Amino acid sequence: MTPPPPETAHGRVITLTGIDGAGKSTLASRLHQALADAGHPVLLIGKNNTTVPMDTELSAYLDRLNALVYRRDPRVAQACGDHYWLLALAAWYTLQDTVVIQPALAAGTHVILDNAHHKILARYAVTPGVSTPLAEQVFAHLSEPDLVIFLRIGAREALARKGAFTSLETGHSGARREDFVRYQDAVLGHLREQERPGGWLSIDVTGMDRDAVFEAAAGALADRLHITI
Ligand SMILES: Nc1ncnc2c1ncn2[C@@H]1O[C@H](COP(=O)(O)OP(=O)(O)OP(=O)(O)O)[C@@H](O)[C@H]1O
Ligand SMILES: [Mg+2]
Repeated sequence: MTPPPPETAHGRVITLTGIDGAGKSTLASRLHQALADAGHPVLLIGKNNTTVPMDTELSAYLDRLNALVYRRDPRVAQACGDHYWLLALAAWYTLQDTVVIQPALAAGTHVILDNAHHKILARYAVTPGVSTPLAEQVFAHLSEPDLVIFLRIGAREALARKGAFTSLETGHSGARREDFVRYQDAVLGHLREQERPGGWLSIDVTGMDRDAVFEAAAGALADRLHITI
């Protein structure tokens, strides 16, 4: 009798969180490259990714949703209101999870998710008028990440790294650097409240260069997920 084919090991989800300018995208692309170079099947997924492998119709649909959620006219954005954007973001995360992340994991591909929904929850916690349980509930069904890497940095240093910022990044509270700092430090506080001791890999990246951040993350992948790069 021929033995059954070996089961493909499930892929792992590694996600990044942290305030605007913390270095999430920088680390995500570095991890993606390193995993691919080491021969691991891996996908880098973020708000710029609208490709559903081998499915042009779903890719086109995902791209239309991405345009609605992320390529928004500021005047229209204001008119739609906070509840609408929470649900629109939940729709985007849901579709990305269903048509890209879950099939990749089932095929044994690892997923690097540049920015999970945790920052959205922290932003909504700062926004009066949207209930926190509602915001938590609309993301509760998404695939549980195997590792959340939290890049901790104060808003002032994040701003020094970024240089410029948008109105969204001050929570529409103003256009001054102080508005960015106040808003992002509040978001940081809420991210810290979501942190589960022993769960998230929390790295204080203040003053750490890109290589040092990468080494810390690569070490955690080896220790916690047994993925060597
Ligand atoms: N360890 C580091 N030291 C110094 N600068 C860094 C470091 N990591 C990233 N940067 C720089 O800081 C800026 C912000 O980084 P990045 O875009 O990766 O942040 P982000 O967390 O993805 O931000 P956003 O939430 O706005 O997408 C970029 O100019 C990047 O090159
Ligand atoms: Mg980014």
